[in-house]
Amino acid sequence: MSNIGSYEQRVTDFSWDIAKEVLNWKDDELLNIGHMCSDRICDRGDGEKTALIWEGFGDKKATYTFNDLRVLSNGFAAKLQELGLEPGDRICIFMDKIPSLYFSFVGVLKMGGVAQPLFSAFGDDSLEVRLASAGTKAILTTQKHVKKVRKIIDNLPDLKHVIVVEGNPDKMRDGETFFDVETAEKFEDFECCKTSADSPSVLHYTSGTTGQPKGAQHAHNTVFGQILTSSWVLDLQDKDIYWCTADPGWVTGTSYGIIGPWALGITQCVLDSGFTSARWYKFMQDNKVTVWYSAPTAIRSLMRDGKELIEQHDLSSLRHLCSVGEPLNAEAVVWSEEVFGKPFLDTFWQTETGSMMVTNYPGMKVKPGSMGKPFPGITAAVLDLKTMEPLTEPGEVGLLAFRPGWPAMFREYRNQHDVYRSKFIGASDDATPDECRLNTDLWYASGDRASIDSDGYYWFVGRDDDVINTGGHLVGPFEIESALIEHEAIAEAAVVGKPDEVNMEVVKAFVTLNKGVDPDDMLELNIMNFIRKSLSPLAMPQEIEYMEKLPKTRSGKILRRYLRALEWGEDVGDLSTLENDD
Ligand code: PRX
Repeated sequence: MSNIGSYEQRVTDFSWDIAKEVLNWKDDELLNIGHMCSDRICDRGDGEKTALIWEGFGDKKATYTFNDLRVLSNGFAAKLQELGLEPGDRICIFMDKIPSLYFSFVGVLKMGGVAQPLFSAFGDDSLEVRLASAGTKAILTTQKHVKKVRKIIDNLPDLKHVIVVEGNPDKMRDGETFFDVETAEKFEDFECCKTSADSPSVLHYTSGTTGQPKGAQHAHNTVFGQILTSSWVLDLQDKDIYWCTADPGWVTGTSYGIIGPWALGITQCVLDSGFTSARWYKFMQDNKVTVWYSAPTAIRSLMRDGKELIEQHDLSSLRHLCSVGEPLNAEAVVWSEEVFGKPFLDTFWQTETGSMMVTNYPGMKVKPGSMGKPFPGITAAVLDLKTMEPLTEPGEVGLLAFRPGWPAMFREYRNQHDVYRSKFIGASDDATPDECRLNTDLWYASGDRASIDSDGYYWFVGRDDDVINTGGHLVGPFEIESALIEHEAIAEAAVVGKPDEVNMEVVKAFVTLNKGVDPDDMLELNIMNFIRKSLSPLAMPQEIEYMEKLPKTRSGKILRRYLRALEWGEDVGDLSTLENDD
């Protein structure tokens, strides 16, 4: 039995208050996500239920109950308070998917802090930009990653505390705090911060076309959107063993890899080891995973490794599969039906939306290749690119947009109100973020293009900007170009996505070199490595093309659109704005 009846049943009489019914929520309860994910589950009598099944590299394994989660997150909350951190302070969590990542995330929210999780593969430049923008007060990390923090700390006047949660305490430097929550004093009781619906909770950085990444600020109210979608779309039920493969450095890993499932009291699995298909299948077999939320790039990698490997494992526990982050090609849906006996259901959403927006779910007919239909309570449309009015003809391509006001919607781009406002079509020049967020006459522009078919199913077409989606992770061309021109050999750079069979797209860089520099294989490797270390492996160009000069508009703006079209073999469009040769 899935959680609720047909799509049509869910759409009629919809109110977000149904989320409260699902949670059995009373309006006088403490609205603090940290509390809701741990204390509240224990209070309802599920303290001894397994909250986390964790596996790491090698044979490392651990299991924690909701009571363990409660006490260990208390430990982090109390330590942060003891260090003088206060509600509203941004506290970065920068570590691999070790158990302490999950406990500290819950702990930060309990003491009222703003959890700022960052992908542990980020290099020092990527880290610095995001910590500086957030004015981050403290960073929780491990001995493995603290080196990157040490390199940049002198440039970060707001960063007062470096807390190392795993490693050798003797290897700490002056001013750093070592805190291993599992061996530290246990805190049976901790009084959670009295946050409310509008109190800031999680800060995720996401890439755009221009400028450095933007900090999408969420509030504690997101939990209601996350639990309802976890219940209806992921179909999470009491006995499920759920695995979200995403890293909490990205929004899927927090909205659906921590908050939604734990607020419902669901057992989650985490695998902190590199990807191989065999490892993933064994993990699911050993832990009897029932619900699996993953991404198309991973699914395509599994497809490539063939069906035989699947047949060597017992995956009969799997009952429900969902996907997010990139277009889920029809072949992958058909393949999963064939090999797992059920299709992967696509879900569309964004860092900014905080919860799923367009989805397939149980009870709904799946059209392979379609993202599904808007979640109940979400008013979606595809807008004409010129008039910004909703298109009415099936199949017409336009801008995917949503009426504002759903519970998990982001509250601001940190310190960038103009950019926030620019996401809302029709917003007046002086509208505050709240006036944009709560004005249901506006459209929130997703930055993607889509079409709607005659049955009301949404089809993803592509991004409406230059952001590159590689393996389900967005990387901003500006951030990579800025890093490339820091390299001593490079004069100018333009970065676009080029097609890739598994990752959908990968980064390709076009560069011009400084006078006297000759391109050779060593230089290419050197540039790639430079980007991998300063930004991340995701941002590293897979190909570098040297050019005499880059194509530009007359006003000097590099024409990425033209370079991208060449890579994708598309019509290069109107070149009338290209710079004259003379
Ligand atoms: O371009 C869309 C793509 O990922 C973008 C959002 O990325 P991010 O903020 O990092 O959040 C990712 C996970 C929620 C979207 O603007 N995207 C996301 N889901 C899909 C998708 N593209 C196609 N199909 C999807 N299901």
